[in-house]
Amino acid sequence: MPEPEQRSYYVTTPIYYVNAAPHLGTAYTTIAADALARYQRMCGRDVLFLTGLDEHGQKIEEAASAGGQTPQEWVDALAPTFTDLWDQLAVSHDRFIRTTEADHIRAVQTLAQQLYDSGDIYPGTYQGWYCVPDEAYWAESDLEMPVAAAAPAPLCPDCGRPLRYVEEENYFFRLSSYQDWLLALYEQYPDFIGPETRRNEVVSFVRGGLKDLSISRANVKWGVPLPWDTSHTMYVWFDALINYISAVGYGDKRRFAEFTRRWPANLHLVGKDIIRFHCVIWPAMLHAARLPLPERIFAHGFLLTKGEKMSKSKGNAADPATLVARFGVDGYRYYFLRDVNFGADGSISDEAMLQRYNGDLANDWGNLCSRLFNMVGKYCGGVVPDPQAGECAHGCADGCTQEGEELRAIAAGLSERVDAAFARCDFAAALEAVWDLVKATNRYLETSAPWTLAKAAEDSPEHARLQAVLYAALEACRIVALYTAPVLPNTAAEVHARLGLPALDCSSTAARAGQLPLEQAAAWGGLPPGNPVTVGDPLFPRLES
Ligand code: MSP
Repeated sequence: MPEPEQRSYYVTTPIYYVNAAPHLGTAYTTIAADALARYQRMCGRDVLFLTGLDEHGQKIEEAASAGGQTPQEWVDALAPTFTDLWDQLAVSHDRFIRTTEADHIRAVQTLAQQLYDSGDIYPGTYQGWYCVPDEAYWAESDLEMPVAAAAPAPLCPDCGRPLRYVEEENYFFRLSSYQDWLLALYEQYPDFIGPETRRNEVVSFVRGGLKDLSISRANVKWGVPLPWDTSHTMYVWFDALINYISAVGYGDKRRFAEFTRRWPANLHLVGKDIIRFHCVIWPAMLHAARLPLPERIFAHGFLLTKGEKMSKSKGNAADPATLVARFGVDGYRYYFLRDVNFGADGSISDEAMLQRYNGDLANDWGNLCSRLFNMVGKYCGGVVPDPQAGECAHGCADGCTQEGEELRAIAAGLSERVDAAFARCDFAAALEAVWDLVKATNRYLETSAPWTLAKAAEDSPEHARLQAVLYAALEACRIVALYTAPVLPNTAAEVHARLGLPALDCSSTAARAGQLPLEQAAAWGGLPPGNPVTVGDPLFPRLES
């Protein structure tokens, strides 16, 4: 019988503007998507995790020319600032797309032509305001217009920079004709947009009425030419959104099987500032092209420093590399996913990061491993003890089956709790669930006091209990490592190595091949007695403030 086909999971981040250096905000979405991708791989799914770069548009054209380079030279020079940082943050994308790739350009043209042929795109005149840094059109009704005619231009409601007045012949997408269809979609699939606050925001925006969208620029050369009128280039957002399908072979007959297998995506992760593009324009484009819609779009909030959105333009965007140097890759990833409620805005600070690092990582988790592994070295000759050896203090006939009951119960409940949390993109809840096991294991060591049991004679029930206690605590650590691997990939791999287990690697679907899916891998009793246990350096050395 053929193997049942492995279920596939497709998750995306936005493709970032190549000209803005990656910062904590862009790293935030990327790490969250990475944790989801790693989690799904741990569960045994065939994952495609897509991220990449948005490389066309007026602001790139202008920046390149100011820098005395061609736009292509400019974007080629900038692209590695992203890929380098993602490598540094252990981001395990399966595909890195750049909108200047030939396949993407072809896909954009295919889709545009199809919408033109179906009458969804028509020529017209655009008169209005445009934000070059955000590449966004603004209606006057959304703006605070300067009073005097000679006054400077209105400011962008999003980024606060001056808008430019644009008057040109453009092509338009009939977005307005999809208003009722969109409202019915949101109604029928309440989970299409998450969290609920964002869904409500999108619904009321669409209820307010949709205007047709200008999708071409006549005076911008750096973009995808419209196939039927090459004097125009595609509006950069229209171009960018199509990356989610061009990456999986849309428009390429030779990749049809891949396309039908991967698309629709399971999840688009985005920031809350770009939900209109993803939850209104994108579904309408797909529907007009008779393509299936993504299963879910989830918008996270902003990272705030001192109450303000962090951004390059405000000059308050911290450099991720500095924080990684201090807290390590896993420390960095843990902080943002544990301390900020994904979906809401979250204030971040050095103090809070230090507190999480020292409290949760150094004290709770790192310290648990180091004192436990030390005890195994001291009392069990540095190997995983056999919990079944000898009669125990409970009087269990064939080795102790009662030790660590609470740990077993918590471990058994993790699969459901963690899975539900990941499904809601609630990373904090997933980590909190695993920390219940970390904390319970620390308490268990305190109450069962292996150091006292170790004083008993070798053939005594107390000595047998010592083996069972240390085994239960080690087993809890193995399970914690499995469940934290999506967020703390390096530490999880290190803990498994120190327990003498095969490599724990969820950085690609291939790396997980032949491994048990998470729930089975985490079944109690998977740690083989006799495995060598290595103490090693502290996993998270304490940091001073
Ligand atoms: N190129 C478009 C996306 C096209 S997707 C088809 C774009 N790029 S961007 O470089 O501006 O990146 C934006 C992403 O970073 C958004 O998801 C945005 O919400 C996120 N962030 C930028 N600053 C942020 C914070 N301060 N906090 C959290 N995320 C924020 O938009």
